[in-house]
Amino acid sequence: MDRYAVFGFPVSHSLSPKIHTQFALENKQVLTYEAIEAAPGAFEEALATFAASGGRGANVTVPHKAAAAALAQRCSPAVSLAGAANTLCWADGGWEAHNTDGLGLINDLKVLGWSLEGRRLALVGAGGAAAGVIAPLLAEGPEQLVILNRTEARAEELCDRFKNVSGASKLAAGGLNTRLTFDGVINATAASLSGERPPLPRSLWAPEAFAYDMMYGATATPFLQWAESCGIGARADGFGMLVEQAAEAFALWRGVRPSTEGVRGRLNPVAPTPNDNTP
Ligand code: ATR
Repeated sequence: MDRYAVFGFPVSHSLSPKIHTQFALENKQVLTYEAIEAAPGAFEEALATFAASGGRGANVTVPHKAAAAALAQRCSPAVSLAGAANTLCWADGGWEAHNTDGLGLINDLKVLGWSLEGRRLALVGAGGAAAGVIAPLLAEGPEQLVILNRTEARAEELCDRFKNVSGASKLAAGGLNTRLTFDGVINATAASLSGERPPLPRSLWAPEAFAYDMMYGATATPFLQWAESCGIGARADGFGMLVEQAAEAFALWRGVRPSTEGVRGRLNPVAPTPNDNTP
């Protein structure tokens, strides 16, 4: 039987096995999907063992996304730009690397009904998570996409790296003490993992702005709690993005793009706030 797995460290909390098992059932695909914990340094060997025992595809999460991009025999343009991969496909005796995170985020924002075109957006964070979503966000035609980061030099480096992608004229860098205002703020930092939030000014919210956290959990993330305290009604965590990136990965592996509606309803640990206050 074809094997699929998510590799991470830690990985036991991952919802990916449940999501993909559900997709497989709904689409009559015969496969197994498991979570494999691989410590940094042991990832490459774990992946090789997996391939040798029937592994046909993998999802890759923290902290292996850069390593996955580096070890692949072929990389999609999105992976080459972001330097990070979240999906691997076994083909012709080697791994082919893709990054479906960006599409996952865009799909989720569409489901939420939050349009990006002509809007002023802030992307907070300048690590691999942020890098993976820049090109897809620019492709949606925002008025502005400002990368805000604690270490401003990293935000500037990212802008420089993406200077040749379509829509790059809309890209700018800044620090967390920005005086700009935004119609949408997307948190791509790792701050939630340590129970923190990026220290942004309350003045950054434009009226009717949305707040999106690429992290998710059973309770609202510190960033979303803060957004709520600022009076932001349109808030969502990254659960929907997780499901949507998974559907894109499933499509790459199996040639069938699953509907995400059932999985969104059944597995969501926290429902997003209703859409009635959305921009
Ligand atoms: P990932 O691949 O998950 O993006 P990363 O490359 O380590 O991980 O990047 C983590 C990001 O979260 C960075 O933008 C980091 O800011 P710095 O570049 O200044 O380190 C950001 N980050 C992590 N903890 C944070 C915190 N408590 N407040 C603000 N930003 C934080």
